[in-house]
Amino acid sequence: MSFNQPNSTKNIHKLSIAPMMDCTDKHFRMIMRKISSKALLYTEMIVAQSLIYTNKKENFLNFNNEEHPISIQFGGDDPLILKEAARMAQDWGYDEINFNVGCPSPRVCSGNFGASLMKDPEKVAKCINSLKNNCNLPVTIKHRIGVDNDDSFMHLNNFVRCIANAGADRFTVHARKAILKGLNPKQNRTIPPLKYDVVKKLKKINPDLLIEINGGFTDIDESLEALNDFDGVMIGRSVYKHPLRWSDIDQKIYKIKTKAKSASQIIFSLIPYIERHLSNGGESWDICKHLINLVEGIPKAKIWRSQISNKSIKKELDIEYLIKLTTRLEEMGY
Ligand SMILES: Cc1cc2nc3c(=O)[nH]c(=O)nc-3n(C[C@H](O)[C@H](O)[C@H](O)COP(=O)(O)O)c2cc1C
Repeated sequence: MSFNQPNSTKNIHKLSIAPMMDCTDKHFRMIMRKISSKALLYTEMIVAQSLIYTNKKENFLNFNNEEHPISIQFGGDDPLILKEAARMAQDWGYDEINFNVGCPSPRVCSGNFGASLMKDPEKVAKCINSLKNNCNLPVTIKHRIGVDNDDSFMHLNNFVRCIANAGADRFTVHARKAILKGLNPKQNRTIPPLKYDVVKKLKKINPDLLIEINGGFTDIDESLEALNDFDGVMIGRSVYKHPLRWSDIDQKIYKIKTKAKSASQIIFSLIPYIERHLSNGGESWDICKHLINLVEGIPKAKIWRSQISNKSIKKELDIEYLIKLTTRLEEMGY
């Protein structure tokens, strides 16, 4: 049975928070959801094969109800395994599935998935097709503008057209190529130059496709400008390191008439969540390791950060102490 969606039901997400391993877990996503009610959130990449064979599926799949809209990102290269993964994603209540062929990690590429798959568009098409035909969720793809010597515009355009024919609903293009030999994943996020013009051309000659730009965006105004050329903007490192810089996403990107939240308002709004996590046996550091980035730019932020970190790492952070510190932030006007 095919579950393909008509084009009219495609969701346009103007801004999304990039999938980032070891960063965009459900706790960070909760923080981001307090910052923006609308941005699309992504899970970290989940290797489809690991998901299928584990008997602890909930560790991979659980998320908080408040996180919607949320996209689950899969890595893999086996259509049969992806078929099972798609069904699980739908059953678990995700809003969208994203397929990752942009990751240059040697560990990922040695399994013949991630960025190396861009060299084999037919295989990627089969994967997208399998995801698409086994759920009724939008299926999107995240990729680079090229890999190694397969970096001509013709290659990119052929890749995108082939994947569009397989049913992909949106293309998130990290505007750099990946260099699989010689650069590690971190270098692959900085050394190959960003080429927004290439992605602009891609959108221009494929106006029928939804194309989201990714790579190097550092503030909301830049993102707003990018929306003149692209259907969406995906933000990674800047939002993780400087979440408060993005506190008016709802106002500026989505034109919602609310006030941007302060750091203390965001932390106070998370207190019930943190309490729940602690009472379920979780550690405060699970959440606080992300929360400490919120105090950026605040006088004496270093002290606040070390107070939270020290107590939290030693497992001595209780809610009363967190409220006390946050009240101090609020009194200082933050
Ligand atoms: C720590 C870290 C982990 C990442 N993990 C993933 C991942 O799991 N899946 C993925 O598609 N991209 C991953 N990326 C790449 C980002 O999604 C994004 O494409 C890249 O950082 C460029 O966007 P930016 O300049 O806004 O950060 C990761 C990036 C970082 C910094």
